Amino acid sequence: MSLHGKSAVITGAASGIGRAAALIFAERGARLVLADRAADVQATAEAVRAKGGEAEAVVGDVATRAVIEQALDLAEGRHGGLDVVFANAGVSGGLTPLLELSEELWAEVLRVNLIGVFLALQGGARRMTARGRGGAIICTASVAGLRSGAGGSPYSASKAGVISLVQTAANQLAGTGIRVNAVCPGLTETGMTQPMFDYARQRGSEGKIGQLNPLRRAAAPEEIAEVVAFLASDHASYVNGQAIAVDGGLSSSHPVAPGRLS
Ligand SMILES: NC(=O)c1ccc[n+]([C@@H]2O[C@H](COP(=O)([O-])OP(=O)(O)OC[C@H]3O[C@@H](n4cnc5c(N)ncnc54)[C@H](O)[C@@H]3O)[C@@H](O)[C@H]2O)c1
Repeated sequence: MSLHGKSAVITGAASGIGRAAALIFAERGARLVLADRAADVQATAEAVRAKGGEAEAVVGDVATRAVIEQALDLAEGRHGGLDVVFANAGVSGGLTPLLELSEELWAEVLRVNLIGVFLALQGGARRMTARGRGGAIICTASVAGLRSGAGGSPYSASKAGVISLVQTAANQLAGTGIRVNAVCPGLTETGMTQPMFDYARQRGSEGKIGQLNPLRRAAAPEEIAEVVAFLASDHASYVNGQAIAVDGGLSSSHPVAPGRLS
């Protein structure tokens, strides 16, 4: 079990990618603290325990320092240290056109998606540094952070910020043995995107979802979580400071007319 005995905190674990990661981490032997502002995080912890795993839940806004510190302290206290942080909680901010966006929406998306990730990263790295045994920090960015076309402007900017944060953090933590990486998921069926999938199914156009990537489909949350579990494990011991696209190949190409080029 590649995460055997590791103490991990996962944010945004009530749903989607965070929930899938919780179940995969637990299956591989990690001991978990799961945080989310949705009370459903209790159900994820219960699902982990029902399978024989260890998980505690913290309900609250993880973009506030007190809540994320509570989760990190709980992991340290219960599990004798902290090995892995998966800073994953995020919001989409909707698709309001640029010219109509409010300052308040911008601030809230940056607060949750970027400052929230910073707080988890900093709190995790402080504890890992003090313990002196290294660790792995994984942050959820997005293909939206690589270029335009996958979300609103505050969302895309927040995710580009996460990629930059991962790069600076990996370098500023040089010599500590702490690895910091990001995953950049493409379109994944989760709570965040469920309305789009439901709408497409209602209209019978679900076959069109994900058609722009070479795998021609959207991802399941487990397909993202598998990469996160790898990055959290010692199998990824030389992977550091990277933003890894998990997008079916979407970001590997410029747009081309179908059938014209391969
Ligand atoms: N679904 C996609 O297509 C996709 C693509 C790229 C990146 N992402 C990113 O993946 C991450 C996980 O999202 P998901 O797709 O699983 O969606 P999701 O809505 O299913 O899960 C996100 C979880 O984060 C929680 N959350 C949001 N803000 C929070 C806060 N301030 N405090 C505590 N919890 C909070 C939500 O309650 C929810 O449970 C997000 O960062 C998202 O931006 C998703």
